[in-house]
Amino acid sequence: MKAVSGFSKMTKEEKISWLSTQFDGEAQDMINQLPAFWHHDSNIQKRLDEFSENTLTNFDMPFGIAPNFLINGRTYSVPMVIEESSVVAAASLGAKFWLERGGFTSTVISTKKVGQVHFLWLGPKDQLKAFFEVSKSSILESVKHLSQNMETRGGGILSIELLDMTAKMENYFQLKLEFDTCDAMGANFINSILEEVADIFKNKIKISDSFLPAEKEIQIIMCILSNYTPECVVECSVECPIESFGEVSGMNPRVFAERFAAAVRIAEIDTSRAVTHNKGIMNGIDAVVLATGNDFRAIEACAHAYAARDGQYRSLSSVSLVDDKFKFSLKVPLAVGVVGGLTSLHPLAKTSLAILKKPSAIQLMQVMAAVGLAQNFGAVKSLVTTGIQKGHMKLHLLNVLNQLNATPDQIHRGKEYFADKAVSFTAVRKFLESMNQLQ
Ligand code: MEV
Repeated sequence: MKAVSGFSKMTKEEKISWLSTQFDGEAQDMINQLPAFWHHDSNIQKRLDEFSENTLTNFDMPFGIAPNFLINGRTYSVPMVIEESSVVAAASLGAKFWLERGGFTSTVISTKKVGQVHFLWLGPKDQLKAFFEVSKSSILESVKHLSQNMETRGGGILSIELLDMTAKMENYFQLKLEFDTCDAMGANFINSILEEVADIFKNKIKISDSFLPAEKEIQIIMCILSNYTPECVVECSVECPIESFGEVSGMNPRVFAERFAAAVRIAEIDTSRAVTHNKGIMNGIDAVVLATGNDFRAIEACAHAYAARDGQYRSLSSVSLVDDKFKFSLKVPLAVGVVGGLTSLHPLAKTSLAILKKPSAIQLMQVMAAVGLAQNFGAVKSLVTTGIQKGHMKLHLLNVLNQLNATPDQIHRGKEYFADKAVSFTAVRKFLESMNQLQ
């Protein structure tokens, strides 16, 4: 195949037209349909196009709301962007259930972010350590022009330290910096400071008299923030007397609470279950992360590394049943922002933040953790009672009907027909076949 050149310079129309020449039949028709998804407002479309590269069109996702979240005494309607049926319904049900039992208590434990300058040094370690100790305050002073603004907002660089990593890799050291980036996710702030710190440190060594000429070179390998933020963590919990569950799907409240606790403990000890359990938590968290224009890849990578912090991947949530009290908690790192980046550029991210009453980054962490916990509660509750498919397939019915090209009338009748029946792909197909035969 001949390489296409100048692709990025083509207009959207030209890109689509080029792409459609690469395919035949149905694929070509579908590619030609891409403009149907362009935004009718050309300014918004331009904005969306500029977020990424080689854009052809937009990929729509449902934007929903889970109302009735009572978190630290404040009520929120939480915007959620997710394509999976039953997630928003489960969050809404969980929110209402816990609203009637005192709501969610969500506490941010710390908000530290981390950046690293990774470098190689071939000289004597002790000399490097001594040199770093005497130079660190002047290094920080030299990047004041970058950190000052953040300092006036109450954040900035919290610490800088030299880590000797030579036990893991020959000649490898790190400058590890900790930051408070206030309401920003802070990636650009952190990365700019790291690159400048690296240059300053390298030059200081070069012009220092403390080192022999052969020792004056440090080799900077890379400067980058770490998405692992185990000290940017929020803890969220709900609690109630076990009796207040009442009867749950025919189960007495204690039996339900014990089955629920057993399910969570299984996710604490068994990695295969833990991944699915945490996926349920992330169903809720990611939906809010997306709705508010935050970086879901960073959040995901960090949450899962955190879940494995003691060497085994485990549940992020835990349950305690003490003195007839049920307490369900979630502890999760969430490095998010409410200013800068996509949060202020994407029109719907702005709308989401407005719906959340313009939260601070700390409040947003509290909300996301509550949604994650509500989601996890809903999933585990279904799993230990009716099973997940009953509720899920009811809500998935419309997708199945659409997949089978049901007409609006068939959809209407299908909903009526399956109101008291088990939904499965085969059952829906049979239902549609029987309708077609009647016509
Ligand atoms: C499905 O998206 C999420 C669940 O699998 C989570 C869980 O098993 O806890 C239902």
